Amino acid sequence: METVRVDTQDRSYDVVVGPGALQRLHSHLSGADRVAVIADEKVAALHGDRLREALGENGRGAAWLDVPAGESCKTLDWFGRTQQFLLEEGCTRQSVLIAFGGGACGDLAGYAAASYMRGIRFIQCPTTILAHDSSVGGKTAINLPGGKNMTGAFHQPVAVLYDTDLLRTLPQGEVRSGMAEAVKHVLISSKDDAPEMLHTLELAGLSEEELIRLIVRGIRVKADIVSRDEREGSVRKYLNFGHTYGHAVEAASGYGGITHGEAVMIGMIYALILSEQKAGAGRELTDALQTFAARNGYPLRQIADYRFEELLGYMKKDKKASFGDLHFVLLPEAGAPEVWRVTEEDCKAADREFRIRAGVKAE
Ligand SMILES: NC(=O)c1ccc[n+]([C@@H]2O[C@H](COP(=O)([O-])OP(=O)(O)OC[C@H]3O[C@@H](n4cnc5c(N)ncnc54)[C@H](O)[C@@H]3O)[C@@H](O)[C@H]2O)c1
Ligand SMILES: [Zn+2]
Repeated sequence: METVRVDTQDRSYDVVVGPGALQRLHSHLSGADRVAVIADEKVAALHGDRLREALGENGRGAAWLDVPAGESCKTLDWFGRTQQFLLEEGCTRQSVLIAFGGGACGDLAGYAAASYMRGIRFIQCPTTILAHDSSVGGKTAINLPGGKNMTGAFHQPVAVLYDTDLLRTLPQGEVRSGMAEAVKHVLISSKDDAPEMLHTLELAGLSEEELIRLIVRGIRVKADIVSRDEREGSVRKYLNFGHTYGHAVEAASGYGGITHGEAVMIGMIYALILSEQKAGAGRELTDALQTFAARNGYPLRQIADYRFEELLGYMKKDKKASFGDLHFVLLPEAGAPEVWRVTEEDCKAADREFRIRAGVKAE
């Protein structure tokens, strides 16, 4: 079992990663007058018994709310239901809420915990690879009809228990999605390791040891950045590498046409092309990432379905845009991210080049 410590101003907590990590749960429940679970319904069906067992004595009789699988739980409606649920189940400020699912369920449950009685304790029990990213760092949010993650709060969990046994039931598309963020964590933090990783990593035949190694590495990178900048005033912005264009692609696909990580992979290649054009980066890293992505089934050619003007519209609405300026995290070289202001013309030139390299007709 590996443990990564996250230190923030609000709170310090451990992220415990490995097979059977869920068994640590009961030790975090002493002192809670009530335990409540918010679970992704699909995960509850697959692994709910394990969670029930792990709750032990303290969690016997825990209140339990299943929410729709994946992104469809991140609505105002479901947020309202979580609040009503906690109230009806008699939860107080001394209660503990457990999030059991991927990033979507974790985001909803985290926001529910941040809001109920102005904030109660919560524990993240992530069940996807992507959630190595989303469960650490305290960002919680739901979607508004007009935009993703548009209402939310910073609220750190008291613990993250990452049981890697639960990842065995993940569909391959979700493996691909989560591994994009793991790759991102290596790209933004290490000068030397990216080329070899991109050359050798095969998602289809990934061993459990290798998976855990990459997850722990990603968590260490995220924990380090969040410890230095909890509220995204400075270095936390680097975690948005690949996300400006990626979020636009995700929005254009109608959230669901393409997974978050697949969109981020597209966004990272795009950001590397921008880095070549604006920040003097060489082409080798871009080519290595593109080859890795194509070899592992990331749907790069899907970009043909979206017009640049549409993507630009979404990028301008991104909440990281300020005063109408577009900001991108660029990588002049691996491991050395920088935030750059970029014009619409720059964006268009990089978009055109991306389409050419992906083998689809540029507009
Ligand atoms: N808060 C943050 O810092 C942060 C960071 C990154 C992403 N996010 C959010 O995370 C969400 C994406 O999370 P995700 O990629 O984990 O997807 P998800 O939570 O939407 O889950 C994807 C699918 O996998 C299923 N699933 C989950 N665990 C499973 C398992 N063990 N076995 C089989 N199926 C399983 C779910 O039911 C769902 O159908 C997005 O809403 C994104 O905005 C948040
Ligand atoms: Zn992401």
